[in-house]
Amino acid sequence: MTSMADPISAGSPRLPRLLSGAERESAMDRLSVEFNALSSSKRTFLKAAWILRRQGVLVVRQAVTPQALEAINAELNQLLLQLDAGQTKQLASNAILNLPNKRRIKGYENFVDAEQAVINHRVKRPDGRSGSDAGMVDIFHPERLSEAMANAVTSCLHERLISRLLLAAAWLPMRVKCRNLYVNRGVQDTRGYHCDGRSQKFKSFVFLTDVRDLSDGPYCYVPATHRDRRSWKRSRQFNAAHGLNRHEYSQLQGLDALPLLAKAGDMVISSQRGAHRGHPQHPDAGRAVLVNMYQR
Ligand SMILES: [Fe+2]
Repeated sequence: MTSMADPISAGSPRLPRLLSGAERESAMDRLSVEFNALSSSKRTFLKAAWILRRQGVLVVRQAVTPQALEAINAELNQLLLQLDAGQTKQLASNAILNLPNKRRIKGYENFVDAEQAVINHRVKRPDGRSGSDAGMVDIFHPERLSEAMANAVTSCLHERLISRLLLAAAWLPMRVKCRNLYVNRGVQDTRGYHCDGRSQKFKSFVFLTDVRDLSDGPYCYVPATHRDRRSWKRSRQFNAAHGLNRHEYSQLQGLDALPLLAKAGDMVISSQRGAHRGHPQHPDAGRAVLVNMYQR
């Protein structure tokens, strides 16, 4: 067993092993259910709740119909075309637009509390000072952009079913706090493993594009860390000693992380108390995901 006093590794975060190949596939299979079965079979529903309770992460395959997927991607792509072309007049009339050189509102809480959709557009800077959100479009409350978007968002998220599932998994009623649409294009300097605070909080992620391999920047999760006191305690002590943010999961040695490769239309649900991160992307890669946050 290694200790914190180890002179070679003291001071550096310790990463989990990233599962790949057949090991990754069988881990995925153990965490997956089909959406059709989840919505129609009590047995599958209970199995899914149990997976989420024990492992902190669940994959729901084919949660979105091809038609709904096409509809939301059409809406999103039209918006991205307008943003990229600088044709922002129409967007600015029904959303709060935060452009690279023109921020209208600041701060996460203000985005969550805004009455309109908020479009945060961040680009990579030519001087290389990209910042941690380079190449991102984050949209808060995408359902407020248009009626077509509202319908598409509703048919992707399955909020009633997922709320019931979370109740069965966490034994606590959870409410939708915020919906987001995230587009990552060539985001390389992603945050390391962390948790989103210590309270019970879940997110569901609906992938709108395929996430085929690590270069696409998959969501990575370390199963069962949402209820593993050891890695949390170890990380907390290390963070305090090295001046890191208290929610970084800096000490995950000996654990396996799962890159959640997925097809467009698949949904991943995870407890945000567990260790997770977005894997850095290839500069040319793109990924779009619709996220729903559930809180008490
Ligand atoms: Fe997070």
